[in-house]
Amino acid sequence: MKALILSGGIGSRLWPITYTKAKQLIPVANRPILFYAIESIVKAGIKEIGIVVGVTRAQIMQEVGDGSRWGVKITYIYQQKPEGLAHAVKISKHFLQDDSFLMFLGDNIIRDDLSRFIQEYYNKKVNALVVLDKVKNPEEYGVAVLENGNIVELVEKPKHFISDMAIVGLYIFDQNIFSAIENIKPSWRNELEITDAIQEMIKSGFKVGYGQLEHWWKDTGSSQDMLEANQRLLDDINGCIKGMIDSQSIVQGKVIIEKDTSVINSVIRGPAIIGEKSNIKNAYIGPYTSVSSGCEVENTSIEYSIVMNNCKIKNMEKRISDSLIGNDVEILSCNQIPTTCSFIVGDRSKIYSI
Ligand code: G1P
Repeated sequence: MKALILSGGIGSRLWPITYTKAKQLIPVANRPILFYAIESIVKAGIKEIGIVVGVTRAQIMQEVGDGSRWGVKITYIYQQKPEGLAHAVKISKHFLQDDSFLMFLGDNIIRDDLSRFIQEYYNKKVNALVVLDKVKNPEEYGVAVLENGNIVELVEKPKHFISDMAIVGLYIFDQNIFSAIENIKPSWRNELEITDAIQEMIKSGFKVGYGQLEHWWKDTGSSQDMLEANQRLLDDINGCIKGMIDSQSIVQGKVIIEKDTSVINSVIRGPAIIGEKSNIKNAYIGPYTSVSSGCEVENTSIEYSIVMNNCKIKNMEKRISDSLIGNDVEILSCNQIPTTCSFIVGDRSKIYSI
């Protein structure tokens, strides 16, 4: 079985971060989201992975490479415009050929063992397997209506409540998905929806089964989702200190401090991770914070946040919380009177003082 990862989307709900960075490369617990997908696929024993890429293809290809670091072969498939998940499958036919394949949405983090779903797909002898999980906001997902343990209907982003069983970003298909895609029309968001294609399979009499998640998952569409995914992943880390911590500093709970990083006169309260070559001075790094590499955090308190590479954050009077901070950002306060604010911020940046 091959795998197909869809990473062509533009991530508009994460602007301005995604103006310059592919959504699937945003780090959670200091690793690109896409790496978690690749690793679970590799763990399930799949050796050939196709990744559908769009405008951000150069970045994705550079960071992910040819798959050799995971011992697998990665092929890239270029989707010129984000015309929907079913469109991405359609243009991947030459790569997938006639075998069954597993499809994984590159912005989803799924902690379940994928081989269980592959087993279910073969054991139940279905033409497609979707994975479901109960959610509080079904209108934001594709949902499945179940009757007597069978899927009777699938609807993408239902306007009125029909079910709270959301379709998780993990699917397994046989080659009948391709003819179903030929029979569907673009949706209101002008995309060929995979949900509509699976509904088309049901209509045509093919067997569509489902599996249910045992662990948590996250569609990391928004900044709050990213922060929540970061929180959940940091909950699972094992502490490990490779950097230097001076005797004035306190490190509590599960904390990873990577090499060539120094912590001076600071409190780090885990779960938290600090990447390589960063300097933390007179600072408080609170729970659920990921600081990437090459950062300087001084005279500042920060918690429940993701700070990407090479940021300088200094002398902030208020605690920074619930923040997603991109690469090479400077947030500096000089604490002098009179105080003024000076901003050089890109389009759609958000600055709140709460
Ligand atoms: C997509 C699918 C939807 C599914 C969701 C899971 O939604 O269309 O059916 O429930 O992924 O993450 P989108 O992220 O495109 O809104």
